[in-house]
Amino acid sequence: MEERSLPRASAPVPGEPGPAKDEGRARVGHVETIASVSSPYDAIAELYDPWSVSVVEDVAFYLEEARRSGGPVLELGVGTGRIAIPIAADGIRVIGVDSSRGMLDVCARRAALAGVTLDLRVGDLREPPVDEHVPLVICPFRSLLHLHTDEERLRCFAAIRERLVPEGHFVFDVFTPGAEDIARTHDRWLEREPRIFERAVWDEQERTLTLTVRGDAGETTMALAWLPVDEWRALLERAGFEVEECYGWFDRSAFKGGEDSVWVTRRR
Ligand SMILES: C[S@@+](CC[C@H](N)C(=O)[O-])C[C@H]1O[C@@H](n2cnc3c(N)ncnc32)[C@H](O)[C@@H]1O
Repeated sequence: MEERSLPRASAPVPGEPGPAKDEGRARVGHVETIASVSSPYDAIAELYDPWSVSVVEDVAFYLEEARRSGGPVLELGVGTGRIAIPIAADGIRVIGVDSSRGMLDVCARRAALAGVTLDLRVGDLREPPVDEHVPLVICPFRSLLHLHTDEERLRCFAAIRERLVPEGHFVFDVFTPGAEDIARTHDRWLEREPRIFERAVWDEQERTLTLTVRGDAGETTMALAWLPVDEWRALLERAGFEVEECYGWFDRSAFKGGEDSVWVTRRR
């Protein structure tokens, strides 16, 4: 099984957590912190790309889906444009929505460097500020795990369905941790990339992961929630999607009960 933490990459190694949050850095006033940080990703916007540098296996997959759709493509949780920029570079229009202004700032900078234009909008997965109807909505790299209840997931799926043309596709990937992965990583600092550390605290009962990431360029803690594959399927069907494919990896191999699932669904 490929190693795929959030982000996933080559196997992380146990390590020291590095400097504590405020060491060696100017302190930010409490009020300013609350006022300016609206997403846990804001604090790691500059760290995100080095943190996810080894995550490359999904890019060709989403690009292929984008080409198949003809575009435009709506990416929910666009982040720093890891997927959106290669799609736009292929000549396909991309609307990217994200709740983190910090991530969108990095994304805009990266897009300019790559010489592509992205239509970036601050917004929520459950209520994307998008009036257009598109043939493809994507939500790569487990962004749906940021939704914690079935109510939130169904709200998000309904919003996606409303923004798809008839027969349009919704393509995403998620993960469901295995007992072995939980036992191996629980509550341990692991060095994901040089000087970038993460610690996963799993709650199998609640099916939640509290993930802390720390590097020289930032630190954050975020809460994620997972579901077994059959529950994702039931929610999708309830929300008016037909599951065309559920792959176990981005090479389109069949899902065989592993941790990753890659979904190609169609608006019914
Ligand atoms: C794991 S990153 C994925 C980024 C990008 N899609 C990629 O593949 O590299 C998750 C992204 O989802 C965004 N996000 C999390 N919760 C969100 C929400 N409720 N609404 C909109 N974006 C959200 C985060 O800000 C972050 O940029």
